Amino acid sequence: MAASDSSLSLVRLLEPEVLANPYPLYHKLRSEDPVHWDRFLHTWVVTRYPDVLNVLHSFSADRTPTPEQLTAMGLSGLNAIAKVMVKQMLFMDAPAHTRLRGLASVAFTPQKVRVLKGHIQEITDNLLDRVQARGEMDLIQDFAAPMPAIVTAEMLGVPTEDHSDLKKWSADFAEMLGNFQHNPDRIPRVLESTNNLTNYFRDAIAKMREHPREGLIHSFMTAEMDGDRLSEEEIIANCVVTMVGGQETTTNLIGNGLLTLMRNPAQLARLRDDPNLISSGVEELLRYESPSQHTGRIAREDVEIGGKQIRKGQAVMAIMAAANRDPERFPQPDELILDRADNKHLAFGWSSHFCFGAPLARMEGQIAFETILRRLPNLEVVPGPLTWRTNSGLRGLTALPVRFTATQN
Ligand code: HEM
Repeated sequence: MAASDSSLSLVRLLEPEVLANPYPLYHKLRSEDPVHWDRFLHTWVVTRYPDVLNVLHSFSADRTPTPEQLTAMGLSGLNAIAKVMVKQMLFMDAPAHTRLRGLASVAFTPQKVRVLKGHIQEITDNLLDRVQARGEMDLIQDFAAPMPAIVTAEMLGVPTEDHSDLKKWSADFAEMLGNFQHNPDRIPRVLESTNNLTNYFRDAIAKMREHPREGLIHSFMTAEMDGDRLSEEEIIANCVVTMVGGQETTTNLIGNGLLTLMRNPAQLARLRDDPNLISSGVEELLRYESPSQHTGRIAREDVEIGGKQIRKGQAVMAIMAAANRDPERFPQPDELILDRADNKHLAFGWSSHFCFGAPLARMEGQIAFETILRRLPNLEVVPGPLTWRTNSGLRGLTALPVRFTATQN
């Protein structure tokens, strides 16, 4: 019977060949048991587009354990991390979520994203200046990791020279976001980085009080709705989620997207020759290789989905990357169609938690793809094995060696 079949378990994402290409597993789940009880992970797994929409819309996002619950489970060592996570908008339901998201939206307006546009182009060009004459680079370390890290520092209003530290701490904190497995050996590092992050933002807030500087931290400090303001702990927690959410995913959009294009050279040539395709092309790359593959929710009450009875309090994993390849929603789902019409993918989630940074992420992606394809002719992957991050939720490569025709700046 499907429900007890280990071949359908998401644990298989830990096998290197499934991690390298999880889509056959997602197709199998969607066609054989679309609302699947994963007895190894003790969670429901939904893979059809309408079911993922339903879960993202109606289920509770209040899913991160509190320090008290962790202590009761004998895991008090994780409390410093939980203290930050419980104050992040990503893990809240209304009305607490509505309040935080409302204050954050006052702080991060479309106008502020537009101001960043010129900086993003400059950051992109500066990074490419360093490699253009070399004819080769590691696309992740030389570009896809530092670019969003520098943009994020600009967005927050902290010195861009701090971007390497911020990137390192953010990668460690992401351990707590995309993984469903608990990796006890990595906890000391995650704790240390969480500590560094909270100290860094506490210090940045103190400095801003003395010398205010444009950026998200300052906007969070001054955002006000009906006399309500964010507390210092809330500012810190939401700077952390914005920073981690913004970096880990955008790096993966650029890395996964360029790998996909290099594996589809005719599509790459089309995109290079017709910049009008950039906007729909980025949406298709988000759908095709979603940087954030899945997220979790909790059932608010007993409910039936797809003929299965889900009990109040049970965990549900919504696999956006599977929904994005649902043939009932997207014709020829495994094909890359850069001008795909009707492309309402779920790569940024859905409903009240829809990605807060989506306009910025789209802009970063569009500038990165357009500039790289324009400035680095004959871009191709250096043949060899590819290593994927073992984080099954945040899908991306650890390195991507590429070569291209070297040109002078
Ligand atoms: C390609 C890049 C990105 C992808 C694929 C992505 C994906 C997502 C997804 C799927 C969610 C919803 C998670 C859930 O419902 O559980 C989300 C939420 C969020 N994202 Fe992004 N994201 C990206 C870039 C960014 C950027 C650049 C920022 C910061 C400026 C950001 C900040 C956030 C925040 C703060 C939330 C929580 C929103 C809430 O709970 O109301 N993300 N993102």
